[in-house]
Amino acid sequence: MDSQSLAHARAIVMEADSVVAFSGAGLSAESGIATFRDTETDALWSRFDPMELASPEGFAANPERVIDWYAWRRTKLADAQPNPAHLALAGQADLIHVTQNVDDLSERAGASEQNILHLHGTITKDHCHAACGYEEKIDLKNPPGFRRCPNCDAFMRPSVVWFGEGLPQEVWVRAVEVCRRADCLVVVGTSATVYPAAALIEAVHQGGGHIIVVNTNPSEASKMATVELTGPAGD
Ligand code: OAD
Repeated sequence: MDSQSLAHARAIVMEADSVVAFSGAGLSAESGIATFRDTETDALWSRFDPMELASPEGFAANPERVIDWYAWRRTKLADAQPNPAHLALAGQADLIHVTQNVDDLSERAGASEQNILHLHGTITKDHCHAACGYEEKIDLKNPPGFRRCPNCDAFMRPSVVWFGEGLPQEVWVRAVEVCRRADCLVVVGTSATVYPAAALIEAVHQGGGHIIVVNTNPSEASKMATVELTGPAGD
């Protein structure tokens, strides 16, 4: 990361009234969690079909396969540790961190749960696919296999947002509100290609706020960046 850009980014953050963080899979890459679209790595969507594994249609077609795939991701997450980027963000006690990530590494780094807005849900819980209201916390080390809801007998599923599904409304409304007030958005490790999440970057940019992008590569957020810090988030 070049020191001039870093100094520029630091000055923006110090002068801003309201700084918000916005992250994606790149934030957890240095913890060994695969991203979705990187070309150089073993990105998930280059190895697996998202419509088979992360859509209501894929779940209806083969629920066991979907649950097994999440069990594999859960055991990977159980073995992972927060990296310096999670720790740096969590170290800012009042920082609101909007994330597309479904892992719990920011919380494990010490961030308060109410400061982390998980736009795409969490892999640490399951809920009833028929939305009867039943949910369970998952032991990531021993994730469950395919099973039915003990309350209504529908299928249980991970509490993540799949393609074609809406975002959790309360979380989305809060994210829109904090981004509306933000005069600086620190965008870490996202391709900024998935909507509506990526629209938050555009909203801050169009509102005149600064966008600081931290990414190993150019991304869709690059064109909105006041400063781009090119390198791993942990740096
Ligand atoms: P992507 O996999 O699309 O993008 C990851 C980004 O992180 C890329 O721009 C990489 O260049 C960057 N990157 C990789 N390693 C990095 C590192 N060490 N430091 C900094 N940057 C790094 O992931 P997302 O943008 O999070 O949605 O993807 C958005 C959504 O698409 C995900 O939440 C998921 C996926 O489909 C759902 O599952 C609904």
